[in-house]
Amino acid sequence: MTHAPRIFSGIQPSGGLTLGNYLGALRRFVEKQGQVETVYCLVDLHAITVWQDPARLRHQTREAAAAFLAAGIDPAQSILFVQSHVPAHAELGWMLSCVARVGWMNRMTQFKDKAGKNAEAVSLGLYAYPALMAADILAYQATHVPVGEDQKQHVELTRDIAAKFNHDYGVEFFPLPEPVIEGTATRVMSLRDGSRKMSKSDPSDASRINLTDDADTIAQKIRKARTDADPLPGSMAGLKDRPEARNLVNIYAALTGEAPDAVCARFEGQGFGAFKPALAEVAVGVLSPITTRMNALMADPAEIDRILLAGAERADAVAAPIVADAREIMGMIRGAR
Ligand code: AMP
Ligand code: TRP
Repeated sequence: MTHAPRIFSGIQPSGGLTLGNYLGALRRFVEKQGQVETVYCLVDLHAITVWQDPARLRHQTREAAAAFLAAGIDPAQSILFVQSHVPAHAELGWMLSCVARVGWMNRMTQFKDKAGKNAEAVSLGLYAYPALMAADILAYQATHVPVGEDQKQHVELTRDIAAKFNHDYGVEFFPLPEPVIEGTATRVMSLRDGSRKMSKSDPSDASRINLTDDADTIAQKIRKARTDADPLPGSMAGLKDRPEARNLVNIYAALTGEAPDAVCARFEGQGFGAFKPALAEVAVGVLSPITTRMNALMADPAEIDRILLAGAERADAVAAPIVADAREIMGMIRGAR
């Protein structure tokens, strides 16, 4: 059985979105729009795998929706919705957690990172999270999943779960979805530590650029970003052992659409005293219009809710019949929906 191409991806509303989310995910979601069917989800059920203050979660979910719209997601072209509005996710998540094996979960590096030494005390949901992510993707029989580098392992696990389901029930029901990891910014690093990814959950706000930051804040964070005292080399090869410097050049290149080597060549011999203001200007030029649109959208939360509810109806119309078929394949008597 061949499946029509369909893109699915998700972002957790567990904090404000960052430049990493924009370059690694959002901007690429916009590029795919119009080429194939695109389904984009604010995964609030994933967010609650760690404690979320309820009022903040509501705010962040609407703000993430505003970021999608401001970045160029068109709700007429893409299905944009909130995960918890569509019951297929939680339902198929359970069913697939009965297909996935504990040994597979134990290999997930994101779980190990997030749980740290505290693995006994984290939520059961945090452990089962990859099965829910597989359900997100497979409930739409999605074939392609644009993500940043850090999600590759989870998409590969989704392929394993889909293959085991197909094998165990003797069907060709779920596609084996492909991770789509492209571009120069698949892993944007922290501005404070070149060995860690830029993350909305980093305790240090100075480590990231938020899509809600104003121009002065962006410039200040870039000015204070950790670097070294050496000038820029003529190509990226010269930045091999300089992760912070490499990160800033990559960000610049991703923002302007240039090759990182071309950016190095242009700034060759100059120090970060010259490079950082240039980077700040480029970052503000790209992000300011988005932030302005986000703020305008956030002034009318009822309109955001209306867009999300309409998206959920369309998502449900795709996912509910697929999950009903999956139930039947697994041997459940067909119910009312
Ligand atoms: P999350 O914020 O963990 O829900 O991630 C949402 C999407 O953004 C996923 O596709 C991630 O891979 C991507 N992403 C998150 N942080 C980064 C980063 N620092 N660099 C590149 N992509 C990222
Ligand atoms: N786990 C992803 C992250 O933390 C978010 C996510 C949830 C997702 N479900 C998904 C991404 C389905 C792609 C497809 O970034």
